[in-house]
Amino acid sequence: MSRNVIQYEVWKECHNRCTFCFLAEDTIYTPKEVKLSGIQNAIDQIKHDVETGVANGVALIGGDFWQGEMADEEVRTRFFELLKLCYGYLRDKKLNAMWLTATLTIGDQHDLYEALDLFEEMVPNAIENERYMWLCTSYDTIGRFHTPKMLETWEYHMKNIGEKYPNIHKNSSLIITNDLVKKTLSGEFDFVKFEKEFGTEIYMKTPSHHFDNMDWKEGKKKFNEMVGDFFLERTPTIEFLQKLNETQPRILEKIMNNELRANSLVGHSNKGDFDLMIRDQKDIHKNISSNPYDAIEKAQIEDCGHEKQYQCYIDCEKCFMCDLQRIFKIL
Ligand SMILES: C[S@@+](CC[C@H](N)C(=O)[O-])C[C@H]1O[C@@H](n2cnc3c(N)ncnc32)[C@H](O)[C@@H]1O
Ligand code: SF4
Repeated sequence: MSRNVIQYEVWKECHNRCTFCFLAEDTIYTPKEVKLSGIQNAIDQIKHDVETGVANGVALIGGDFWQGEMADEEVRTRFFELLKLCYGYLRDKKLNAMWLTATLTIGDQHDLYEALDLFEEMVPNAIENERYMWLCTSYDTIGRFHTPKMLETWEYHMKNIGEKYPNIHKNSSLIITNDLVKKTLSGEFDFVKFEKEFGTEIYMKTPSHHFDNMDWKEGKKKFNEMVGDFFLERTPTIEFLQKLNETQPRILEKIMNNELRANSLVGHSNKGDFDLMIRDQKDIHKNISSNPYDAIEKAQIEDCGHEKQYQCYIDCEKCFMCDLQRIFKIL
């Protein structure tokens, strides 16, 4: 069977408060009963999807799980039952891969370490046995690490997890913000050094958001006024893409890379309902959504064949995906 990773967004609650987060207010609080039903729904669906052979990879995503979102003992106990279910499928080779998200910026992350210990215990020698466990985190140069301490905490856990759990792979997702573009062009940020220092693969996605009661062009401008250098200026962005193409082409391929994307997402809302979004894996540069909360059917496709949200420049309405394809020489 070809790779089919299903991502289960168990809840949206997250205490990190990234200024740009597209989950917006939904990160603030999820009632206990909704968390419990999110877990139960994930358990039922994973059982179904694995037992019927629909899924060979499972991803658990938030919000976040490890920074106080599981403070309630019953929620924590049920979440660990969900983990045990997934680890058992990995051990029994009913699943090839599992992805677990972690934000890693606050506190000692004791629940996460317990979850990783449990993985080692239930799925020993994972790499030797071709069982793939990915710890998926994110890194951004603006909006994510609100204090130097939060960045230090992330760096500490990345290195510590690397030392303690050599059988666990790490992936870091970066938003291509205008700030990241500038820092890469000036040499302040270097993708290859970053990968080496933190023992991580990388994945990159474009900046996006929902703007209620505001058109897209206006929304991007207002958003940058609030959040900082987020949406992109086209000239430095093209320079950035060209620089990567010339000096680190392997890194350029990490932008919207299929290999690091789940095939579908089951999302849970704070009201307790859920929806399923299927991503088109055949032609990732044509009509996929970088914002999982816009289902493909709802997405607005522009004349160029890409979604409206790829018009993520602040100074014009050109399409980032078209620029990327030109530089990649896909067309
Ligand atoms: C919603 S978060 C959930 C997982 C985890 N809390 C994290 O941040 O990695 C999933 C991904 O969405 C990205 N994201 C959030 N807001 C975004 C935005 N406005 N534009 C593009 N990506 C965004 C985050 O950086 C992260 O990589
Ligand atoms: S850590 Fe992830 S879910 Fe939490 S606020 Fe930041 S982007 Fe949103």
